[in-house]
Amino acid sequence: MLTDEMREKLIESAIEARRWAYAPYSGYAVGAALLSASGRIYDGVNVENAAYPNTICAERVAIFKAVSEGEREFIAIAVATSNAGAPCGACRQVLSEFGLDIVVLIVDDQRRVVAETSVGELLPRAFGAEQVKTG
Ligand code: THU
Repeated sequence: MLTDEMREKLIESAIEARRWAYAPYSGYAVGAALLSASGRIYDGVNVENAAYPNTICAERVAIFKAVSEGEREFIAIAVATSNAGAPCGACRQVLSEFGLDIVVLIVDDQRRVVAETSVGELLPRAFGAEQVKTG
């Protein structure tokens, strides 16, 4: 359950994380903050690379940080950019691995919540574990 207090904290964390974005090529700073079921917040930023395709998005940094510390269950993720950009397809897919019910808050740098949605809504007919299990 996402309480109002946690919702605010998550939004604030995503906006604050943006300052650490490493985006010298695009100039597009992204901050993400992911709330685990254990109540911890894991933030992430986009980390670009001179060999452009090696760039990783803020959302995936947050989720990989969390999973690498033992987390598997997530309540919500807030994503902050200058203009409320939505998570890319790759990040939607990675998030979907851990639940279609994860709340997604898309916010801008004025703290406007432009969308409050879910991974399932952002990724209809998601490819998941049930497709891979053939036996
Ligand atoms: N980016 C993210 O961090 N998350 C997204 O979901 C979309 C795109 C980053 C990648 C790149 O550093 C910059 O935004 C421009 O594409």
